[in-house]
Amino acid sequence: MSGPLVVLVGPMGVGKSTVGQLLAERLGVSYRDTDDDIVAEQGRTIAEIFVDEGEAAFRAIEKAAVRRALVEHDGVLALGGGAILDADTRALLAGQRVAYLSMDVEEAVKRTGLNAARPLLAVNPRKQWRELMEARRHLYEETATAVVATDGRTPEEVTEAALDALELKEA
Ligand code: S3P
Repeated sequence: MSGPLVVLVGPMGVGKSTVGQLLAERLGVSYRDTDDDIVAEQGRTIAEIFVDEGEAAFRAIEKAAVRRALVEHDGVLALGGGAILDADTRALLAGQRVAYLSMDVEEAVKRTGLNAARPLLAVNPRKQWRELMEARRHLYEETATAVVATDGRTPEEVTEAALDALELKEA
């Protein structure tokens, strides 16, 4: 299997970057995050891209960034929460080892709250979260080879659970 050792998907605020870095450490590989790639390449924040050009333009930039990272990176790769909305991206993820970090909506609202850096949650976060997860849950599930629940768990516990679920624990 070529491509990253592990790809992490899941909603914003679920802990993809924290767990991704812990996983990479445990596996002795490097960590990469497509949101960081986009900010570095564009020289502006994700919120700025949304404001300047809108969500559709951001999704096109994101799609190219994910495609590139899947080819270039062989460690742990975290994708932005909406990357799986794109059918071509989902097709590229078929055959990869993909962990979906999940959390329930109440936990999501608590963790992300009103967060200006996350343009999709700018107002009425509880309603937005509910709608977002209704639209996306099945896409996360169909893309993932392992689902790891994060509710009530520390990042270290989630990392252990992910290693187990992905069958990456040494015997
Ligand atoms: C988004 C998630 C964000 C970022 C953008 C859109 C989404 O990434 O790509 O704000 O649509 O869920 P994180 O999941 O890394 O926060």
